[in-house]
Amino acid sequence: MIDPIARCPEWLIDRIVNRGGSISFYEYMDLVLNDPENGFYATGKLKIGKSGDFCTSPSLSNDFARLLAIQVVDWLLDLEKSKIDSELFSIIEIGPGEGTLSRDLIMEIVEIAPALTNKIELILVELNFGMRRRQEKVVNNLKDVNCRWSNIEDLILRPVNGVIIANEVLDAFPVERLIFSGSKVFRQGVSLKKINDVYFLEFVDLKPTSEIIEFLEESNSLLKIEFPPKHICDRWVTEWHCDVQSWLAKLSKVLINGSLLIVDYAMESKRYYNAMRNDGTLISYRDQVATPNLLKDAGLCDLTAHLCIESTINYALTNGWKFMGETRQGQALLALGLSTFLYSLQNISSNDLSAALNRRESLLRLVDPMGLGDFRWMAFQKDNSNDLILGKRFLEEPIS
Ligand SMILES: C[S@@+](CC[C@H](N)C(=O)[O-])C[C@H]1O[C@@H](n2cnc3c(N)ncnc32)[C@H](O)[C@@H]1O
Repeated sequence: MIDPIARCPEWLIDRIVNRGGSISFYEYMDLVLNDPENGFYATGKLKIGKSGDFCTSPSLSNDFARLLAIQVVDWLLDLEKSKIDSELFSIIEIGPGEGTLSRDLIMEIVEIAPALTNKIELILVELNFGMRRRQEKVVNNLKDVNCRWSNIEDLILRPVNGVIIANEVLDAFPVERLIFSGSKVFRQGVSLKKINDVYFLEFVDLKPTSEIIEFLEESNSLLKIEFPPKHICDRWVTEWHCDVQSWLAKLSKVLINGSLLIVDYAMESKRYYNAMRNDGTLISYRDQVATPNLLKDAGLCDLTAHLCIESTINYALTNGWKFMGETRQGQALLALGLSTFLYSLQNISSNDLSAALNRRESLLRLVDPMGLGDFRWMAFQKDNSNDLILGKRFLEEPIS
């Protein structure tokens, strides 16, 4: 696919020139999202929610957090019941965005399991200061439960027992874009093009790194993923979520005992690395509008890429995690009781009709198979003792 030409903002011209005139797509994605002075997340310009750039499940209403709390409470009680010697259990949210999931989750846990109140703490792990500033305003109102921000490196020094949640954060990790053309593989790069004294961005083909070659070989030998798949056209583009492996390795050192729940855009390798998907999964979002033009309005749009399910599970298994199971968000939320929430709306008085209709719409969006309902929930467990049994209510039959 040929991207329409896109103007390069001043700040990015400097970054690209300073790095020798062209950068990898990975570096480009990292800069436009996380550059401390200009990245969309780093500056906090990006807004999540119905009136923001895009919606996430927790931004629709507190129902997502209320349902997730049921599973989290199960896990905390399982940890408490086990013989683990821990006075405090940590609930860690990675990439908390606006902070609403953390806030609503803690409020619901305290509501449904008040005995846990003094035994839990909330830890937020946020890369970008612009987002953290907004989280502070939302989460600091929590009175009953201790709350702090940390980073993975500091947590590794003082590992914890508890639950880690990563909702829609891995899709914002920078990815390598890989190009298969003729019989060759390239690493996608981004370069400057000057037309009448104005700088534009354009894609260029760079030499693949040894890590890329290793990823392709390992995916083939371990997971039987064929790169490129058979019957591709003359140019086939895909992505590699190259930071997920080291992220899972570090996280396994953060948690002594407990669970990790990843919720994100994800698909099986057969669908991901399919000849028909010849431009990968990357998409750009701004003001609720999605576009495949990844170079447009650099630093003013979100970029998001799907995860490959088998690769993610494999990375987890090779880094000390046990796989608990995986399902679509729609199934998971129905198993946790979403239909009972819908049913309860029948009892709402006619004065609250508009609020009830809004809530109904948000609940349906959470399970919509064409939208958030297609997200994947992937759960993993870490235990030192080998006898920790964590429930899997989110994988059970839906409650009707
Ligand atoms: C799409 S938002 C998800 C927000 C939230 N979890 C939700 O569901 O509404 C991604 C969040 O992850 C943060 N982030 C991106 N990369 C990160 C990283 N490596 N570690 C921690 N946070 C990160 C972003 O700054 C942002 O707050």
